[in-house]
Amino acid sequence: MTPKVELHLHLEGAAPPAFIRGLARERHIDISGIFDEHGNYAFRDFPHFLKVYEAATSCLRTPEDYGRLTLAVLEQSAAAGVIYCETFLSPDFCGGGDVQAWKDYLAAIREAAGQAERREGIALRGIVTPIRHFGPGRAKNVALCAAETVGDWIVGFGLGGNENAGEPRDFRWSFDAAREAGLRLTCHAGEWRGPESVRAAIRDLGVERIGHGVRAIEDLALVDELAERGIVLEVCPGSNIALGLYPGWRRHPIHALRERGVKVTVSTDDPPFFRTDMRREYERLAEAFDWDEGVFAAIARTSIDAAFCDDDTRGRIVKRLEAARA
Ligand code: ADE
Ligand code: ZN
Repeated sequence: MTPKVELHLHLEGAAPPAFIRGLARERHIDISGIFDEHGNYAFRDFPHFLKVYEAATSCLRTPEDYGRLTLAVLEQSAAAGVIYCETFLSPDFCGGGDVQAWKDYLAAIREAAGQAERREGIALRGIVTPIRHFGPGRAKNVALCAAETVGDWIVGFGLGGNENAGEPRDFRWSFDAAREAGLRLTCHAGEWRGPESVRAAIRDLGVERIGHGVRAIEDLALVDELAERGIVLEVCPGSNIALGLYPGWRRHPIHALRERGVKVTVSTDDPPFFRTDMRREYERLAEAFDWDEGVFAAIARTSIDAAFCDDDTRGRIVKRLEAARA
């Protein structure tokens, strides 16, 4: 199978529904309303998706829960061919913003990631991520948590949640603090708002990657700027289609963005929510745009070059990508 590199994955968003149901049962939490009759996550639109996501996340209550979740997620990712992955982690969900609690959650996640790397050969790194609709005040706290845990494993800082809540500049303090602490930066933008939102994330937060960013296609001057500056898009086509941003795979702008010279990468975002995984994303893209192995190999290389990990790790992954091509 083609080895894959995934840069945009929310750990809670990757939780298998049965895993969350198991926790809910143990803890007598009623979340029956978030599933459909087949046991899949069910939501009407993006704001409702965020509610369902947060209800599912409310079942994860201890560092051990996150450790078990990490193992379950990485087993699935490895089965889909992923050899390197970056995941968003939110101290708001992991310990409620308390620094010591966050450290305990992170220790459990790292322990599980180490086990998965030994067993499955998949490497994981973390991007600390405040939730935009929780506001800039809580984001400051998250940045302080991030600064306390910068190192070889926590490698980046991002911003997820509802893009319609506030402006990127509201989060400048947190992004400046994260940058000063040594973290690399990304931000969700150009998913629920248009090109101006992407411009603002780059201008006001100084990010080098954009989560999604696909709506840049509505402004070709911006597309050219992204290409010239080498800003990397973490594109999640299956997520965009499942949430109704585009009516189908052939209508998704990833191909047009790539053709115009933008560095695009491919990720799943929240795979069980969107009934996808990395293998399925690759298959659908191959069908829709006639992409061959050469295109996917180039995308994997763009992805690992844009990864926030240290250069030793990057070098090891590049070797594995090259070996698979030989
Ligand atoms: N959190 C989980 N998935 C997300 C998405 N697609 N956009 C913003 N925040 C998210
Ligand atoms: Zn996302």
